[in-house]
Amino acid sequence: MKALVMKEPGEVAIETVADAVAGKDEVLLKVRMVGMCGTDLSSYRGKNPLMSYPRIPGHEVAATIAEPSKTHPELAAGMDVTLSPYFGCGRCPSCLRQRPNACQFNETMGVQRNGAMTEYVAVPAEKLYPARLSIKELCLVEPLTVGLHAVGRGRVTAQDAVAVFGCGGVGLGAVAASGFRGAKTIAVDLDDAKLAIAQRAGATHTINTSREPLHEQLLELTGGRGPDVIIEAIGLPQTFRSAVDEVAFTGRVVYIGYAKEPVAYETKFFVQKELDILGSRNALPEDFREVIRMLEEHRFPVDEAVSAIVPLEEAGAMLKTWSERPGSFSKIMVRMD
Ligand SMILES: NC(=O)c1ccc[n+]([C@@H]2O[C@H](COP(=O)([O-])OP(=O)(O)OC[C@H]3O[C@@H](n4cnc5c(N)ncnc54)[C@H](O)[C@@H]3O)[C@@H](O)[C@H]2O)c1
Ligand SMILES: [Zn+2]
Ligand SMILES: [Zn+2]
Repeated sequence: MKALVMKEPGEVAIETVADAVAGKDEVLLKVRMVGMCGTDLSSYRGKNPLMSYPRIPGHEVAATIAEPSKTHPELAAGMDVTLSPYFGCGRCPSCLRQRPNACQFNETMGVQRNGAMTEYVAVPAEKLYPARLSIKELCLVEPLTVGLHAVGRGRVTAQDAVAVFGCGGVGLGAVAASGFRGAKTIAVDLDDAKLAIAQRAGATHTINTSREPLHEQLLELTGGRGPDVIIEAIGLPQTFRSAVDEVAFTGRVVYIGYAKEPVAYETKFFVQKELDILGSRNALPEDFREVIRMLEEHRFPVDEAVSAIVPLEEAGAMLKTWSERPGSFSKIMVRMD
């Protein structure tokens, strides 16, 4: 079968690889569509420390069950599904605490093990999520779960004012989930196009920090208190710091962004404000189920959020273009059939 292979940074090729075969407890899937995100771009650029080469990418997956499951009769041939691409070790502190999303030895499809940019994949039945969604929607589930998980970590309720810093693929999921929970949701970005999509996804307010003062705007929107929850989905030292500076007293700060360099803090706010400072990584099964509910209720602007859909033959060229002009695309999807 055909697969896209990242042979080394900057070099991808379509190659013939061994056919996928379903082992015990696995289900054979015909891959229909695969999304690409910032992680794939980092891998292409050789900037993803977790990636090893050669590797078949692809962790945002829409597929159709090709062979019925022997062990899970509810998973019938012809059913459309998405999947969780994370593989926990089952033995580390996180796994033992039922939090395999933060497994110390996690392997993600397309990063530490081969992914789905291929004709067929065999995946454990427990990782599959059937849903009454279109192929494009199924492909958006995994990227949205990351932001939704952060909203869960921040214990967001309808009584909260929540600011989400960064409305890329990840932040947009947090905006949508916060809006879905009924919170006052303030989307923050430098890019008007991103903010327009955030508004369609559920943001009640937007702040463009390239021309509006963040501090004054946040105070005005929160009765002078600051947001109850701030979710950082950018990964810059200044936005890491500003989350702690701007959040309300006894508020919650949730970090999804990976800062690429060390961050210096005025730590007195940790104490004085008695903050909950939380990390948020990947997503749990319940996050997949909640994103599916959100999409089934048509609470997300699917078409606006996807900037391009290309056939497999053009995926390599698309990665090159994306790497040269990263600001021009949000979500790119690869059609596999
Ligand atoms: N924790 C996890 O499980 C997890 C998973 C995937 C990605 N990430 C991290 O999440 C972060 C976001 O990922 P993404 O794919 O959405 O990235 P992205 O580049 O698509 O989005 C970043 C957004 O932030 C905006 N932005 C940049 N600088 C800004 C600034 N100074 N002020 C306001 N807005 C600014 C950009 O305009 C863009 O819309 C990254 O750090 C990534 O490494 C974490
Ligand atoms: Zn992704
Ligand atoms: Zn583990």
